[in-house]
Amino acid sequence: MDWFEKIKKPIIALAPMHGYTYSEFRQKCAKAGADAVYSEMVASEAIIRDVPQAMEMLGFEQNERPVILQIFGSNSEVMAKAAQIIEERFSPDGIDINFGCPVQKAAKQGFGSCQLADDSEAAKIVKAVCSATSIAVSVKMRLVSFDANENIDFIKKMHQAGARLFSVHGRIRTQKYRGHADWNLLRKIKQGCGDIPILGSGDVDSLQFLKDNLGNLDGALVGRAAKRDPEIFGELVKIKND
Ligand SMILES: Cc1cc2nc3c(=O)[nH]c(=O)nc-3n(C[C@H](O)[C@H](O)[C@H](O)COP(=O)(O)O)c2cc1C
Repeated sequence: MDWFEKIKKPIIALAPMHGYTYSEFRQKCAKAGADAVYSEMVASEAIIRDVPQAMEMLGFEQNERPVILQIFGSNSEVMAKAAQIIEERFSPDGIDINFGCPVQKAAKQGFGSCQLADDSEAAKIVKAVCSATSIAVSVKMRLVSFDANENIDFIKKMHQAGARLFSVHGRIRTQKYRGHADWNLLRKIKQGCGDIPILGSGDVDSLQFLKDNLGNLDGALVGRAAKRDPEIFGELVKIKND
């Protein structure tokens, strides 16, 4: 059974955050009640070169489980090899592929949200990673566009390539953090994706926010609000009693 199938829905998990979601912080969130925790993104190139700093970022304690380690990269063979190394050395509950990072540096190197623009190349990466590991592979992405069908199409293609769960930040790449995450669109996307598990991401900061926005989604990721106060998970998971 995959990690997300063992959790009572809706799933309330710690979002991946570069520079923040290291082991110690994840443990705090898990203790406070987070259903699952994501590592920050780690470069697949650094993993296959056994760079100590990258390997350290992948380490975790058993009390964090379920823990999902996130990788990024533009080369499918390197991504696959990195996933294989992660499974052998760390055995996490899930491996997540970053198709969401919006920064300029990522675009220049061909990874992150710019990968949403080429679904056949993205599917090639997902397929390669899935073939290299038996652990559940998930995808973290931004909105492809404000058109629900384009998002549904992308998710279905990645699902067909082997990804089993999706987290979608409800903003497009060029928005960075401006405006609000579009949860109305996230719910429409979920509706079009049927049984494919989808977690929403963006601006979750209270139990009331979840009550107002979660709808048909399978759960949510919590980023900046958890960064401000990891204890927020104790409050947010009360949504399960609704
Ligand atoms: C400081 C910071 C670092 C982030 N690093 C990552 C990352 O490594 N991988 C990723 O997929 N998303 C990353 N994100 C995006 C978050 O996972 C999340 O989708 C986004 O912040 C919106 O959710 P929030 O409003 O709950 O923070 C980062 C966000 C922040 C604020």
